[in-house]
Amino acid sequence: MEAKWLVFFSMAATMLALHVVDGQEESSVKPLVKIVKGKKLCDKGWECKGWSVYCCNQTISDYFQSYQFETLFSKRNAPVAHAVGFWDYHSFITAAAEHQPHGFGTTGGKLQGMKEVAAFFGHVGSKTSCGYGVATGGPLAWGLCYNKEESPSQFYCDDYYKYTYPCAPGASYHGRGALPLYWNYNYGETGDALKVDLLNHPEYIEQNATLAFQAAIWRWMNPVKKHLPSAHDVFVGKWKPSKNDTLAKRTPGFGTTINLLYGDQVCGQGDVDSMDNIVSHYLYYLDLIGVGREEAGPHEVLSCAEQKAFDPSSSSSSSSSSSS
Ligand SMILES: *[C@@H]1O[C@H](CO)[C@@H](O)[C@H](O)[C@H]1NC(C)=O
Ligand SMILES: *[C@@H]1O[C@H](CO)[C@@H](O)[C@H](O)[C@H]1NC(C)=O
Ligand SMILES: *[C@@H]1O[C@H](CO)[C@@H](O)[C@H](O)[C@H]1NC(C)=O
Repeated sequence: MEAKWLVFFSMAATMLALHVVDGQEESSVKPLVKIVKGKKLCDKGWECKGWSVYCCNQTISDYFQSYQFETLFSKRNAPVAHAVGFWDYHSFITAAAEHQPHGFGTTGGKLQGMKEVAAFFGHVGSKTSCGYGVATGGPLAWGLCYNKEESPSQFYCDDYYKYTYPCAPGASYHGRGALPLYWNYNYGETGDALKVDLLNHPEYIEQNATLAFQAAIWRWMNPVKKHLPSAHDVFVGKWKPSKNDTLAKRTPGFGTTINLLYGDQVCGQGDVDSMDNIVSHYLYYLDLIGVGREEAGPHEVLSCAEQKAFDPSSSSSSSSSSSS
């Protein structure tokens, strides 16, 4: 009797061990696999293409589905919203596909991927929200309410860039998109990267949700300035802080993504509303996506309240909110 139990237990332990050693969770699409110089590379079809280590892991559509997108952005098609019918799940996944082979949502396994999607949306939601204190469903339910700045006060044409990114006659470079673009040089630079003529056609961003998400994910995945890390890098832990970074309280994590995107407009001022709003959206999405806000880490990782800006002199791309 005792011996039988022992066998049973040791078998169970072996099975458990195999499961843990294997590590990777099942994904709906089986990737094609090849080994190059001892590295396992995968190709998973349209969503994760191009023989990348990241495509061996679960992709975004494995752990973030259409109904979850609806839950996160539940009020975006309410009659009082400002971009009714514009934003949808399919556009997000299509836009994300280009960046998943480079690690967007596919770095470090499923949990880390879910956290990154929540973090990216934390920024997006706070910049496109029309939720205020009294809004039904609470102020955080109103992300993706806008796709452009309403009644812009100027054309956002900076003449300093007249040789590199000259403003097109009559074009207005006001805030548009998921991480809203402002200014001719930001439309120009993003257009170059996406191979779309945004300098002459900034309006494309408000006409095409895939393009709007592509621009936002491109911003998340690439440094705002050459010597800086990307928001993606600091979030997934690919970035090693220098001594200066440590002295300036810049640690890997969500807080530093705020610093990279908004610098001293938002960071280093204590717990101000503009920063709390971004953090609150991130925590709300962590809960709704099924990770839970307790996974977000301590306040000093989550916030940039005490951080010095990377480059205090000049501010970065997407500055003011489209909802203000
Ligand atoms: C893939 O996921 C595993 C966990 O499932 C993780 O340890 C690994 O770092 C991930 N691979 C990459 C390239 O991020
Ligand atoms: C929207 O943008 C995407 C990505 O740039 C492009 O592939 C697609 O054709 C565009 N859709 C329309 C209707 O122009
Ligand atoms: C560190 O900060 C000091 C003072 O701001 C600066 O002079 C120095 O160039 C910085 N070092 C690096 C590696 O950025």
